[in-house]
Amino acid sequence: MQELEKIVKEAEQAFKAVTTLPELDQIKAQFLGKQGVLAELRKGLAKVAPDERPVLGAKFNNLKSDLEALLESRKDAIKADGLKKRLESEKIDVTLPGRRQSLGGLHPVTRTWDRVTDLFSTMGFSVSSGPEIEDDYYNFTSLNQPEDHPARSMHDTFYVEGEKHLLRTHTSPIQIRYMENHEPPIRIVAPGRVYRVDSDATHSPMFHQIEGLWIDDRATFSDLKGTVREFLRRFFEQDDLEVRFRPSYFPFTEPSAEIDMTFKDGWLEIGGCGMVHPKVLQNVNIDTEQYQGFAFGMGLDRLAMLRYGVTDLRLFFENDLRFLSQFHG
Ligand code: DAH
Repeated sequence: MQELEKIVKEAEQAFKAVTTLPELDQIKAQFLGKQGVLAELRKGLAKVAPDERPVLGAKFNNLKSDLEALLESRKDAIKADGLKKRLESEKIDVTLPGRRQSLGGLHPVTRTWDRVTDLFSTMGFSVSSGPEIEDDYYNFTSLNQPEDHPARSMHDTFYVEGEKHLLRTHTSPIQIRYMENHEPPIRIVAPGRVYRVDSDATHSPMFHQIEGLWIDDRATFSDLKGTVREFLRRFFEQDDLEVRFRPSYFPFTEPSAEIDMTFKDGWLEIGGCGMVHPKVLQNVNIDTEQYQGFAFGMGLDRLAMLRYGVTDLRLFFENDLRFLSQFHG
């Protein structure tokens, strides 16, 4: 009798001690299985005196149904507990704001590129382009750049496959390519990537330029000055922006000038320009008795830096989104 109560207690504790259904099944086998505690007890029943059997048998049956009831309730508890844990761990807070798929934006240099070509379009220029891998003829020779010009050296230029092909060092070869295929009047701008062996805070081995070319029967140096100044004033949205044309030298223009603009307390160089050299026009069979004109080249990255107040050119090409996303608008 006491033994039976002990068994119920033991079973109760054993059931409580487990927390998963497979573990509970094992305990169940220990007590209710074929070789379990109860099966042993039943064997003992056979040995008791016949007149005690009905009483003991009834007790045995009660014990068995007690154990089964205990087992069932433990099973329910384990299931309920599992469900509770799952609900907790899989809980979704529907009041949280949704995760937004952030939209990309245009790179500041691309924005500048677009802005510059748009402005020149409103001034009557069409947009042209040329290959980034050029040959010696278009990049140098056709532009009247002599063999011994320093820009031709291996230190300054990325040559591809010997010395005949190279990554263009400026957008000026597009002048030649365009004039080979079009008759004056010509009025184009040509933005593009250019390459030089150069790297510091204001120089990158790859950078961007925009080339301008205007050829007709009367384009003069004062047209050049007016065009460049008008562009810069519109670009920087500053009507009193001063532009200075400082005498200089380029093989493909004569006379040539550097373009400087007012910046803070002084002048800042923004590009080069000049009247297209007669030799350049002759190279593309344009009659220099009938036609003349001017060309200019400006650094797009430089324009972007000035417009956005960026002091290190390399930031544009590191692709750090913390930097780039400031320009999305
Ligand atoms: N190609 C020159 C450079 O990269 C810039 C330049 C100067 C372009 C004068 C021109 C020009 O069209 O007329 O340094």
